[in-house]
Amino acid sequence: MTSGIDRLAPVVRLAPAKINLTLAVLGRRSDGFHALHSVMAPLDLADRLAVTAVAPPAAGDRLADSLHVSGLDPGPPDANLVLRAFGVTRAFVRPTWSGAPAEPPPLAARLEKRIPVAAGLGGGSSDAAAAIGAALEAWAADATADERIRLAAELGSDVPFFLAGGLALVEGRGERITPLAGIRASEPPGVLLVSPSVAVSTTAVFGAYVAGGGAPNPSSRLTSAHLADELATGTLGSAELVARTGVLATANDLVAATATVEPRLPRFRRALARVLGRPVAQSGSGPTLFALYPSIQPARTAADAVREALGAGTLTPPGPGSVEVFAAQFANSTLVRAGARDGVGVEVTG
Ligand code: C5P
Repeated sequence: MTSGIDRLAPVVRLAPAKINLTLAVLGRRSDGFHALHSVMAPLDLADRLAVTAVAPPAAGDRLADSLHVSGLDPGPPDANLVLRAFGVTRAFVRPTWSGAPAEPPPLAARLEKRIPVAAGLGGGSSDAAAAIGAALEAWAADATADERIRLAAELGSDVPFFLAGGLALVEGRGERITPLAGIRASEPPGVLLVSPSVAVSTTAVFGAYVAGGGAPNPSSRLTSAHLADELATGTLGSAELVARTGVLATANDLVAATATVEPRLPRFRRALARVLGRPVAQSGSGPTLFALYPSIQPARTAADAVREALGAGTLTPPGPGSVEVFAAQFANSTLVRAGARDGVGVEVTG
């Protein structure tokens, strides 16, 4: 399956952020993870990963991949999922490797972080998914879609979603991905992202969820299923999606658990909703909060208003650190565009 290395230029991948439009927790599985029903959307806010296969080491030397991280809050490279993704991909490629050199050679990676870390935006998971694809390409190695999903699931529950590349219903622990047709709109909806720098680990949030009794919430499940159905048929317009934000904001079953881990967050969320005059939802296990807009421009105006309120002290951050405020938009892959002339025909864009 492997044809050796013929590529010297770096393989470059964009690793998009995601938001969870819904997140219903259905119950605990026998492996300790939770079964989910979540509609997830990729955004145009993305990290950038560049990967190059380097000269193989001299006989007897150890293979070592390297990673240089720059940009927003990079964190320690050793903890980065990119290096773990190279490891699992190498273990997958090695048994059938027939190229020269004798082993898949080391990879040198540069990661430019634009997505806040540990924020509920899936940045680390997206980097990992991009790293699997980039490593395979740098080694000129193949893997089927199922094989890629297995590698992704080894690295984290959110990683398989990022292999699909569009709006998707995510089920199981995160490994069952059903692509959804998309939002019927001529331009991508805008998203205001507000990321306070308070530490909220996914593990701690699920721990708090279990400690709180972990009872499934049938209404989140219904909201999530309804949204998935509408997005599967490609009939939901962006104005309708925006109008749903209030309902969607109640369809994240981790909100109460996140508040247990970071008790200052609910007050900040209420204050943010007052500044914006619209409902605010939590992405994943938080702490990132988001509001939806029909396009990027009103999201930018809202971002200015939030920065101004933070600067004026009328909106108080939930902790001592700074608050990242971004205007982003849904990735183009989430759109079903209305027919250009008659407004009836639909075309799925990739
Ligand atoms: O898979 P990932 O490393 O992202 O998960 C972090 C933690 O979140 C897990 O150790 C688990 O405690 C919890 N989790 C869960 N059910 C999921 C996803 C994550 O319980 N579907």
